[in-house]
Amino acid sequence: MYTYPHKDLVSVHQLSKYDVEEILKKAKEMEDIFRWKKVGTSLSWKIVATLFYEPSTRTRLSFESAAKRLGANVITVASGETSSLSKGESLEDNAIINAMYADIVVIRHPESGSAEITAKTIQKPVINAGDGWNEHPTQALLDTYTILKEKGRLDNLKIAMVWDLKYGRTTHSLAYLLSLFPEISFTFISPKELKMPEKVKKVLDERGISYRETNDYEDWLQQADVLYVTRIQKERFQDKDEYERLKNQFILTIQTLKNAKSDVTIMHPLPRVNEVDHEVDGLPNAAFFRQAENGVPIRMALLDLLLNK
Ligand code: NCD
Repeated sequence: MYTYPHKDLVSVHQLSKYDVEEILKKAKEMEDIFRWKKVGTSLSWKIVATLFYEPSTRTRLSFESAAKRLGANVITVASGETSSLSKGESLEDNAIINAMYADIVVIRHPESGSAEITAKTIQKPVINAGDGWNEHPTQALLDTYTILKEKGRLDNLKIAMVWDLKYGRTTHSLAYLLSLFPEISFTFISPKELKMPEKVKKVLDERGISYRETNDYEDWLQQADVLYVTRIQKERFQDKDEYERLKNQFILTIQTLKNAKSDVTIMHPLPRVNEVDHEVDGLPNAAFFRQAENGVPIRMALLDLLLNK
């Protein structure tokens, strides 16, 4: 039986290809409980703390749903304003207190590196639910799970990532994670102001992964097996004029999809603003709502693996 080899999940860099495969296998097992064919009790008497110092719908609620499906109780901080962090308490002090009240801490915080600080401060397991514009490892796992379910494989895929690749933490974690699998190549499509950060490309270079960068939105579509669209991350812009100038530059419509493969899997971590037109929702290959649902079995698997060793 597989044992998760770390105390925490703060970065996808902690995961080997084998770890990813085992986590996805566990998520598949969890589908039966998720679909109410069984009752999950593996987290009975455990308390999961979900600390969300940034807005969230899917991530927090799917973690809480996952915890409850396995019999755990949940305590939550659903916004920065309701926590003592807003009174000036340090992340470290806050973490020590939270660890006293719960068996595992799930944290989302606007500072890059915040999950790592929390994990180093306390003995209890910590899961990064998004740290600034750095990483979002659980989203990358559910995205990978979605690709596996939609495409039936994780190798030999052409992945197009579109729009805010600079601030979109989900694209960073997903690029790292998919680069563990053979014959993956990427096209990064964005305005020049929102290009994939150098540190992500450096890792891809080290792993010998092929990628190209373009701002030609028509160019990418023809070859992509998976099209991963992101929203422009308004809250991370220092320069609001830059945001105003860039917003609305890209909108995916049925018309823009006309040159794409007919079975291109269309993904989006959500929330969408207006970058995917609602007319796309009805396509059989529009996978973004199924993708959001996949968050529950993935987070069930992670909570179970980190809490039951
Ligand atoms: C993403 C995030 O928080 O980074 N949302 C999510 O967790 N599903 C993407 C986003 O906010 O654009």
